[in-house]
Amino acid sequence: MAFNTRTKIKDLLKLAPEQQTVTVMGWVRTRRSNKHVTFIAINDGSCIQNYQIVADPAFIDEELLKKAATGACIKSTGKLVESQGAGQHTELIVERLEILGEADPEAYPIQPKKHSLEFLRENAHLRMRTNTFAAIMRIRHQLAFSVHEYFHRKGFFYIQTPIITASDAEGAGEMFRVSVLDPKNPPLNDQGGVDFTQDFFERETNLTVSGQLEGELAAMALSEIYTFGPTFRAENSNTTRHLAEFWMIEPEMAFYDAEDNQNLAEDFLKYIISQALLHCHDDLEFLDKRASEEEKNKKADQRNELSLLERLKFVIDNQFERITYTQAWEILRESTPNKKKKFAFPIDAWGTDLQSEHERFLVEKHFKKPVIISDYPKAIKSFYMKQNADGKTVAAMDILFPGIGEIVGGSQREENLDKLVRRMEELNISREEMWWYLDTRRFGTAPHAGFGLGFERLVLFVTGMGNIRDVIPFPRTPGNAEF
Ligand code: 4AD
Ligand code: MG
Repeated sequence: MAFNTRTKIKDLLKLAPEQQTVTVMGWVRTRRSNKHVTFIAINDGSCIQNYQIVADPAFIDEELLKKAATGACIKSTGKLVESQGAGQHTELIVERLEILGEADPEAYPIQPKKHSLEFLRENAHLRMRTNTFAAIMRIRHQLAFSVHEYFHRKGFFYIQTPIITASDAEGAGEMFRVSVLDPKNPPLNDQGGVDFTQDFFERETNLTVSGQLEGELAAMALSEIYTFGPTFRAENSNTTRHLAEFWMIEPEMAFYDAEDNQNLAEDFLKYIISQALLHCHDDLEFLDKRASEEEKNKKADQRNELSLLERLKFVIDNQFERITYTQAWEILRESTPNKKKKFAFPIDAWGTDLQSEHERFLVEKHFKKPVIISDYPKAIKSFYMKQNADGKTVAAMDILFPGIGEIVGGSQREENLDKLVRRMEELNISREEMWWYLDTRRFGTAPHAGFGLGFERLVLFVTGMGNIRDVIPFPRTPGNAEF
């Protein structure tokens, strides 16, 4: 007989108590007993709620009940009856109890009490057994599903771009090398450097920082595509917003200009956030309460004016502010923190990159809503962005979110071969190696645009968590690749 005869707790909670026999399986969260009865709360991850089963020690072996301790995995079959207590409208009267996996309650790290996030990060192999992390993972799933749903409905095609690549799409040089050469004794070339022609791919290769360049090739055939995959950046940024391995969604559209690109990004973000509100109600309510508790520990001037749920609704209901880099620069230059020298990076000359303190000032203090900044100085953006007529700026856009800063980066692309080649020469990017990319501009080039959404930054925003390490199952950051 097949083993999986259980009812998931999510479904069990919806059943009427009609003395029917049901089986549940899950991990024990708490157990309490008196002389007459033992209550065991179990959770199977299907929803935030635990389910309470009730055992009468007169019928169930005492040793067995002892083994159903916090952390153990159990299977229980019994009758579904109306609940005597508050909080749950049915309960299961245990007829058969089986311990699927014991757990030494002394040694089990996840106790039924509040643990710090730091402690849980060190126990990431078990942290999904807490309400907070299970809720985050269910929301993460819903968001990923909504991404596919959104694009599928719009007729975009999901394209898988390579993870191992020879090109640096963003030109920032922050890549992880992929090699099978012996690090102790690599073959050398005539110049004394490592001879990568003897490596697996017969050239130097890395983990990709972005699927965009290959995404553009696909858009030049299928019109509208998106990628959704892992990307890797070897930047040594030990912040609450950076991962060395993160997931990115990158739509790329033929026949879109910069404004079409902004419209799509805003509509897309609003859709997936609204789907989370629709489908993750219990988990979001739990995280909303959690975030409100956290707020109490913050200094008054750093507290959020809105609760988590209010922030999500606010983003859906309000138009994003759209300004150019030059406008942002003017606002920042004249701002009180700049005049009072409160910024670590003072705003002075036009053309410098915006730091996260500036982004957060614009979003959280000045506009108090998501902001799309466009038309950045070309010197601080990537080679592929469309050059504006002013000769100074490019048709870039960044979307900034409250509490997060940059969540989306994108642009219209330079479709003119000559202009693109000139820019690549200025930046010392090899035309020879990028011949395949340039071919799209040689054969049937078209206006096109796209953007990248950092998936974990989105999950961070929707869950109201404070650290990006807590919204991916097993974070990869400098010095950290356990699990
Ligand atoms: O702004 P970025 O670097 O843009 C690109 O990679 C383009 N190729 C996208 C495109 O136009 N198709 O990265 C896009 C987004 C950022 O806005 C941010 O949300 C996220 O990716 N991101 C990171 N998320 C977590 N950890 C990191 N180290 C990240 N770096 C970027
Ligand atoms: Mg960016």
